[in-house]
Amino acid sequence: MPVITNIADLKRIYERRVPRMFYDYTESGSWTEQTFRENTSDYDQIRLRQRVAVDMTGRTTASQMIGQDVAMPLALAPVGLTGMQHADGEMKAAKAAEEFGVPFTLSTMSINSIEDVAGFTTKPFWFQLYTMRDTDYVSRLIQRAKDAKCSALVITLDLQILGQRHKDLKNGLSAPPKLTLKTMANLATKWAWGIEMLSATRREFGNIVGHVDGISDASSLGSWTAEQFDPALDWTKIAKIKEEWGGKVILKGILDAEDAKMALKVGADAIIVSNHGGRQLDGALSSIRALQPILDAVGDEVEVHIDGGIRSGQDVLKAVAMGAKGTYIGRPFIYGLGAMGQKGVTTALEIIHKELDITMALCGETDVANLGRHNLLVPQDFEGRWQA
Ligand code: GLV
Repeated sequence: MPVITNIADLKRIYERRVPRMFYDYTESGSWTEQTFRENTSDYDQIRLRQRVAVDMTGRTTASQMIGQDVAMPLALAPVGLTGMQHADGEMKAAKAAEEFGVPFTLSTMSINSIEDVAGFTTKPFWFQLYTMRDTDYVSRLIQRAKDAKCSALVITLDLQILGQRHKDLKNGLSAPPKLTLKTMANLATKWAWGIEMLSATRREFGNIVGHVDGISDASSLGSWTAEQFDPALDWTKIAKIKEEWGGKVILKGILDAEDAKMALKVGADAIIVSNHGGRQLDGALSSIRALQPILDAVGDEVEVHIDGGIRSGQDVLKAVAMGAKGTYIGRPFIYGLGAMGQKGVTTALEIIHKELDITMALCGETDVANLGRHNLLVPQDFEGRWQA
């Protein structure tokens, strides 16, 4: 096993180990993938302000997200099909997050079910909800998340219909994989993944299969979203779901200050500035570039979190110094999971934590709570560059 020192190392191992179909699912954006690329490259535009001769002993990255203690201002983002990257992937990622002291968010489109994850962990996790046409099914999902003692509901707003992802269409992405000649040829080279998968609790969408009738193809993300997701979702429905849930609500997929104001109006406890990892509206702003106008509009009244493009602790520091109260990683923990299971997720968290801690020290700070724009050098036109 090579020495692993950064997230890119985990990604290389992940790519070798996991079937192409699931690697491509992770590593894709929609259409030209411009937003997917800019999510990461826009972080590179921001520079850090080095300070010296500051006592850097007694550092802490501990913080809070929606009033819950976190070891660093970071959570694991909801990622569909995680249990296809590694057997029982959601259970293992949730366990790694729990042990590290950061929140895990279970996707509606997970392989392990809400109950699987609840049975494998001891602390509450967060549940991400997609709103469906079948409101009874949504109510049952909400009840299951309540029964599992989930401590926040993350409602995703930017996927009423699926952005087109060329790689997934070409690969015929499904869970479990359909055994075409191309898929079988690739699976034959991924024997370690296959052996683990034999012991998996599940190999299909655990929150769906067995819980709804009349689905034409329960294995395909594309057909499920097209048939079931609610294209008529609006703010009134979001307010109703919030009421039905009755607990903390995080609204995910806000990229515009006007939508942030609406989120505030319906009483969100936090919003996530997000373009769905560049997987939905290609050509939309990168999330780090969209952050400041949203902070200006609602930052004093609601917690503003961010996801998309974070690949290091330095990126976490940049987002927090810009004003985000919390950050999320999706792909980086999937690389770890696919590479080494639960240990790989822990490794990803350790890498990011260490990078955050050391970067903080070299910026002359000892507490994440004190990070701010004074730590950054941001290009003059960074936020204003793409004005409407
Ligand atoms: C769905 O959650 C996706 O982005 O694939």
